[in-house]
Amino acid sequence: MRLTCLAPVLCVGWNLIMVAALEPISTGLAVGIAAAVTGFLARYQNVLYYFQECCRPEWISYNKTGLQEDLQKKLFGQHVASQVVFKAVTGFMNNENPKKPLVLSLHGWTGTGKNFVSQLIAKNIYHKGMESGFVHLFTATAHFPHTRDLETYKTQLQQWIKGNVTNCPRSMFIFDEMDKMQPGLIDSIKPYLDFYERLDGVSYRQAIFIFLSNAGGQNIVQVALDFWTAGRQREEIQLKDLETAVSLSVFNNQESGFWHTSLIDKNLVDFFVPFLPLEFKHVVQCGMAEMAAKGLELNATVVDRMARDLNYFPKDERVFSVKGCKVISSRLDFYTD
Ligand SMILES: *[C@@H]1O[C@H](CO)[C@@H](O)[C@H](O)[C@H]1NC(C)=O
Ligand SMILES: *[C@@H]1O[C@H](CO)[C@@H](O)[C@H](O)[C@H]1NC(C)=O
Ligand SMILES: *[C@@H]1O[C@H](CO)[C@@H](O)[C@H](O)[C@H]1NC(C)=O
Repeated sequence: MRLTCLAPVLCVGWNLIMVAALEPISTGLAVGIAAAVTGFLARYQNVLYYFQECCRPEWISYNKTGLQEDLQKKLFGQHVASQVVFKAVTGFMNNENPKKPLVLSLHGWTGTGKNFVSQLIAKNIYHKGMESGFVHLFTATAHFPHTRDLETYKTQLQQWIKGNVTNCPRSMFIFDEMDKMQPGLIDSIKPYLDFYERLDGVSYRQAIFIFLSNAGGQNIVQVALDFWTAGRQREEIQLKDLETAVSLSVFNNQESGFWHTSLIDKNLVDFFVPFLPLEFKHVVQCGMAEMAAKGLELNATVVDRMARDLNYFPKDERVFSVKGCKVISSRLDFYTD
């Protein structure tokens, strides 16, 4: 049993005792009630678990069909990423005794769905999804902006990870903008990703780490473009067509934070997940989904016009959307006015 789950029990009991102290006449009675209520709540904790998020199966359980459906129906144009993520997460969540935490590295052009996929994973493991107290999102430019504070960030991040995993072994950490992360900072979390049974008495093997970056995006685009030029179907692209491109480019790209780290040569990353650049038809799909999400009446004409006005590359062929599905939400507002 965890302290965070017990806190409300103690609070209820304590409040009643305080009330009792203010009303001297009925003190005896109130203390009796307080004791009874505390006893009741302590015994029937499931009632409390229902109201307050706890590190328990009531709040954390993997919904395999949920993730599969979400990936199929809500993520557009990412057949490779979808497959890899589903297999990786399912394998890990079904393994009662994993040898290391799950470490996923999501790569691709902006707006292709990396953030979205990490939200879908969170949603299908934690009942509160991204709102869960066990899901932690770090954005390089927001959380760790200053080079001079590196040492502070390192200590802080290590304490956070250790503290949170101690509270709940099934914690999830998402690091956005990995390419903007200072190399030293990534190095400082390396031990938690490794195969240790315990580190200072804490086991990190149930935790999930997800890294998001644009690194390798250029190479992925090249592969997709090569397929398109050769007249081959996008759906023919397989993980193996992208995997080496991604890991090599990440490793060799001096500007990306990965360069100085041994995440890769120590095989700490379990899966590299490549996100393909999105085409016009995917932007339309995103647009329709966004309309539905906004509760608007679906109108293909509007979405089509919105999608046409976006920028595509290469300039002449206009194959891939420059910003993927990123700006669609605000764009739609403009077109539906
Ligand atoms: C799992 O997800 C599916 C599809 O989203 C949903 O219908 C189902 O209720 C979920 N199951 C649980 C136990 O939450
Ligand atoms: C857990 O992580 C959050 C940052 O997401 C941090 O603010 C908090 O202090 C951490 N908790 C512990 C117990 O370390
Ligand atoms: C879609 O929107 C356009 C422009 O706002 C409007 O002229 C058209 O009637 C709409 N179509 C449908 C099917 O609602």
